[in-house]
Amino acid sequence: MCGIIGILGKSPVAASIVDGLKRLEYRGYDSAGVATLEPTGLARRRAVGKLKNLDALLQLSPLGGHAGIGHTRWATHGKPSEANAHPHAAGPVAVVHNGIIENFRDLRAELSAEGINFEGETDTELVAHLVNREIRGGAEPIAAVEATLKRLEGAFALAFLFEGRNDLMIGARRGSPLAVGYGDGEMYLGSDAMALAPFTNRIAYLDEGDWVVLNRAGATVRDEAGKIVKRQVQTSLASATMVEKGSYRHFMAKEIHEQPDVLSHALSRYLDMAQGTVRLPDALPWDFADVSRVTLTACGTGYIAALVARYWFETYARLPVDIDIASEFRYREAPLDPKSIALVVSQSGETADTLAALRYCQANGVRVGSVVNVSTSTIARESDIAFPMVAGPEIGVASTKAFTCSLAVLACLAIAAGRKRGVLSADEERRLVGELMRVPRLVAEALNTEPKIERIAKVLTKASDVLYLGRGTNYAIALEGALKLKEISYIHAEGYAAGELKHGPIALIDETMPVVVVAPKDRWFEKTVSNMQEVQARGGRIILLTDADGAAHAGESEAVLVMPTADPIAAPFVHAIPVQLLSYHAAVMMGTDVDQPRNLAKSVTVE
Ligand code: M6R
Repeated sequence: MCGIIGILGKSPVAASIVDGLKRLEYRGYDSAGVATLEPTGLARRRAVGKLKNLDALLQLSPLGGHAGIGHTRWATHGKPSEANAHPHAAGPVAVVHNGIIENFRDLRAELSAEGINFEGETDTELVAHLVNREIRGGAEPIAAVEATLKRLEGAFALAFLFEGRNDLMIGARRGSPLAVGYGDGEMYLGSDAMALAPFTNRIAYLDEGDWVVLNRAGATVRDEAGKIVKRQVQTSLASATMVEKGSYRHFMAKEIHEQPDVLSHALSRYLDMAQGTVRLPDALPWDFADVSRVTLTACGTGYIAALVARYWFETYARLPVDIDIASEFRYREAPLDPKSIALVVSQSGETADTLAALRYCQANGVRVGSVVNVSTSTIARESDIAFPMVAGPEIGVASTKAFTCSLAVLACLAIAAGRKRGVLSADEERRLVGELMRVPRLVAEALNTEPKIERIAKVLTKASDVLYLGRGTNYAIALEGALKLKEISYIHAEGYAAGELKHGPIALIDETMPVVVVAPKDRWFEKTVSNMQEVQARGGRIILLTDADGAAHAGESEAVLVMPTADPIAAPFVHAIPVQLLSYHAAVMMGTDVDQPRNLAKSVTVE
């Protein structure tokens, strides 16, 4: 997750760009850079490390241009270095980028075959070269960017500046956020409204797939199909210290929609995307090759993330897993093997039962890793090693982005364990890393199905009970769906392993009971389809969450939501989206307090 800012100003912009970047430093700070249009042409200043290094460089070697773009980087492709720092340039084009270009290897090979040399290893640099290639072929900058965007796969935000075009800037948003700021004879682009707060409070948020052409008089926004669209200009209440909802009605909606972006950030922290490998801290307090067992424990949504991870550790690392809810685990008096490790998962890092479970493990000689969102929390500090999920502040009580970001961390840990234990080959690691790199885009595609999910959510609001079914990792998603629905809509819901249906819950089925089935076309699919038939034979009404292949083979359901096709390691991320959105829209229709549901607290620091 990097930070982007762009200014078409009336006076020198470099200092303002750095000011805006300071507000985005939370998104990444391993290097930073600015490009401006000088009388001599495009000029860049880039520095490794925190923004103060860029600031110092600008003092020594100032820029005076009135149009510029800037970037603070969290490395994805390529190590932090000046050559890899943004803005990247090719010919008359400079670009800054947040996100992941998934097909960068193919595109880079294509450009290399044409004799193009790259200065660094980033995926961003090839975007500058692609636009430059169009311009060399005779295209105007706007057409060159439009053609380039069609070639890019992934989830990203981009801002472009062009030598010789002092009144032009282009931005694009696919998966990662980008806001347009309207000033007085000045225009701005920024990763969020907070970055633009010193300059303007008149903000329009780009929608998924939008791209925007700015000049000092205003902005023209086009959708993915190239049609000119209007995006409402709102008055932002952003200040330097606030976390705000942006264009969303609730924090939960914002946090659901942030997932492509925060997942890019989380994954880029634990993956070396250029090498196709997992990158964990050097000083791991254990060697996965010598670990006998993994104990996974957490509460609520953290527990459900751990449940997904159980399948990954068993499948990809062949590591035996013991998993339990922290409030149970802490009192179980479980005998622990000092050769085992424990992983605890906690958004807040303060949950009392999870902390007690951590302490129990350490008291029994077991090293503990924590997957946490709040890096300064007690759990992060007391664990032997903390793996930040870097989801950014989660304000909605119902956990959404922290769920998928903890999945991202846990998937990386499972792959690293598999490699270390000789279960996964280098090729298998590369393949799995490639599948994880696709996750932000797949999640963005899943979010595009929201209008249909909203319609289906209406069915849930009429029910007093809802059953969620799934097998394998889909069972965990079924549990998460039921937890989300009950906590914010107050509709009673249960998640069940589909194979358990006939051992009890089938007695509940009648025509009043919606049954949400999570069943992409995976190795559990046929079995789950049999369970669906058992439900339908008793008058039950199925809402099926599946993929295209699953929809073609599942038979009739009352409603079907088709999610993007995903590899088994990516599927839980994708299917988390419809269960989050179903509960969100059901709650909005029921008129509950979505962000602060009754009786609940974001951080449960008591037993
Ligand atoms: O901060 P934690 O992740 O440790 O919190 C654990 C649970 O309290 C939390 O996941 C809770 O279940 C959420 N409200 C679920 O949406």
